[in-house]
Amino acid sequence: MSNTYTLACDTLRAAPAVWLITGVAGFIGSNLLEALLKLDQKVVGMDNFSTGRARNLEEVRARVSEQQWQAFRFHEGDIRDEAACQRAATGVDYILHQAALGSVPRSLEDPISTHQVNIDGFLNMLDVARKKAVKRFVYAASSSTYGDHPALPKVEERIGRPLSPYAVTKYVNELYADVYSRCYAFNSIGLRYFNVFGPRQDPFGAYAAVIPRWVAAMIRGERIIINGDGNTSRDFCFVENVVQANLLAAVMAKPVCSEIYNVALGDRTTLHELFDGIRRVLTECGVVYNQAPCYRDFRSGDVKHSQADISKAVGALGYRPTHRLLAGLQAAMPWYLDNLDKLGEPR
Ligand SMILES: NC(=O)c1ccc[n+]([C@@H]2O[C@H](COP(=O)([O-])OP(=O)(O)OC[C@H]3O[C@@H](n4cnc5c(N)ncnc54)[C@H](O)[C@@H]3O)[C@@H](O)[C@H]2O)c1
Repeated sequence: MSNTYTLACDTLRAAPAVWLITGVAGFIGSNLLEALLKLDQKVVGMDNFSTGRARNLEEVRARVSEQQWQAFRFHEGDIRDEAACQRAATGVDYILHQAALGSVPRSLEDPISTHQVNIDGFLNMLDVARKKAVKRFVYAASSSTYGDHPALPKVEERIGRPLSPYAVTKYVNELYADVYSRCYAFNSIGLRYFNVFGPRQDPFGAYAAVIPRWVAAMIRGERIIINGDGNTSRDFCFVENVVQANLLAAVMAKPVCSEIYNVALGDRTTLHELFDGIRRVLTECGVVYNQAPCYRDFRSGDVKHSQADISKAVGALGYRPTHRLLAGLQAAMPWYLDNLDKLGEPR
């Protein structure tokens, strides 16, 4: 753990703040909630349960003390509803904006909903943050913003053309954040997450991410399907690294304009390597999987390779990822083994 992160946690423990997490019932939002409650912070959460689950909140409750849980207030509401955003953000010091409709394929099937939630909803939250003069607005940006730019690793300033409606929405978020900085001197921080994974990430449904989907399939002894030839590569990032980046961005950064940081490991893992890694970690847990994968076409809208340059976040935020891929898989696996049966099939 970096010294800066230890300092940020100590600072927060010494002087607890009030946080708003949007998308709090989702995968990343609920991990942020757990971390902040464990640091004895007051947290307001907002979610409309479109992809999030009440059971994620119940699980956090089981993992913190009753006193810490009492510091959490939940607003069921939609970020497209400006009045609901206003209510949730009243009296808040920091906003961690996670609510969005994720997934490239979802955005290809339903670009309108993706636009409404990811752009209109984002603008509501950004505007509320400005009007309420919160200390910091940190939002979930995305590596999809790199689009078709061929350079590797990905450096914050060099982006290409978006390859999906989802990527457009995430880029528009950055443009709005930037223009709010120029027009209203309201500075914010966008964290471009690269393929995040960890406990409470949904393995089911048409839009599930590759790691939870494959973990679930292997545990159930089902066939793995690889989109493309298996040489597609990604910078897979364990969720605790993402939690660290959010807290550092909120507490330690002093932006003078709107800032963007890559949040990842700075590594590249092919789907073949990922397949072997998950199988290896499952074997360590006593689950043996011997089936070979099958292959289908590369998915449209996806980029072929992705790898972050994380030097900006390392230098400016003191970000130091604590979990490499295998360590993250080892940390996440007990959750899947314990919870898979309870998660059920797609809602
Ligand atoms: N998981 C990743 O690999 C990844 C990568 C890049 C960016 N991101 C971004 O990180 C954020 C969190 O992603 P996640 O993986 O936790 O997804 P998730 O689907 O688990 O969480 C999103 C949460 O937002 C809520 N939500 C959606 N629409 C809402 C609305 N209109 N009003 C209120 N709440 C709403 C959902 O119910 C859900 O709880 C998203 O902004 C996503 O685009 C994620």
